[in-house]
Amino acid sequence: MDWDAFFKIHNGLPREGPGSPEDVDWVLANTGLSGAISVCDAGCGPGADLETLADRLPEARLLGLEMHDGFVASAQKRCARFGDRVQARLGDMAEPGGPHDLIWCAGALYFLGVTEGLKTWRSALAPSGFVAFSEPVKLRGEMPQAAREFWEEYRGITDMAGIEARVAAAGYALLGTRLIIGQGWESYYAPLRQRIAELRVADPDPAMTEMLDMNAREIALWEAAPEHIAYALMLVRPK
Ligand SMILES: C[S@@+](CC[C@H](N)C(=O)[O-])C[C@H]1O[C@@H](n2cnc3c(N)ncnc32)[C@H](O)[C@@H]1O
Repeated sequence: MDWDAFFKIHNGLPREGPGSPEDVDWVLANTGLSGAISVCDAGCGPGADLETLADRLPEARLLGLEMHDGFVASAQKRCARFGDRVQARLGDMAEPGGPHDLIWCAGALYFLGVTEGLKTWRSALAPSGFVAFSEPVKLRGEMPQAAREFWEEYRGITDMAGIEARVAAAGYALLGTRLIIGQGWESYYAPLRQRIAELRVADPDPAMTEMLDMNAREIALWEAAPEHIAYALMLVRPK
């Protein structure tokens, strides 16, 4: 992977994975969280969900942790209007501090492993604290070729029962699930599509072209099977 080319494409995009403000709203409605709570956005990327969480929780303190400094800078910029109560910093989401009432993790827990990450986060949660995370999920029925190719590099993908088993193995109870499908993916891919088109003209370097092709292929595979490609948003808490 040419990371320079990757970050040249991805830096400044509004989000780095599928999702929407409605996902945040669903979690807040199903947890009843409000007031002066503590929230960590683990692997916050450029801070799209951190910003929504901060907007929906005006009394909360929020910490976004991210390992790529370009994304940290984006998250800091878009959350500056919230002042000191919202911080985004370079850090390892395996060490989220705490205690937090909610650890939010969109499209990043697979870097730690679902079971391993949840186990690690147990001691970072306040009593009655929640974890909400999104994870690739294999939907019921035959997967079309485009969906199989889309997921071919994510060998760990399972169906919902498989994710539930990984949650249970960490000693967590499942409180609810929601599919991220369709619009949440378009929200991620629309700005990426635009960036690819711009860089094709602005940067014809072969390494960049290869990375642009790789990103364009991912979008084309999603466009060929949008009803078969999903993340599951999982709301869980320690038993
Ligand atoms: C698919 S992106 C999702 C970003 C963001 N949650 C969003 O939805 O826009 C996953 C992010 O996790 C970050 N990440 C991976 N491992 C990490 C770690 N150990 N600590 C902090 N961030 C990490 C990556 O740098 C990347 O920005």
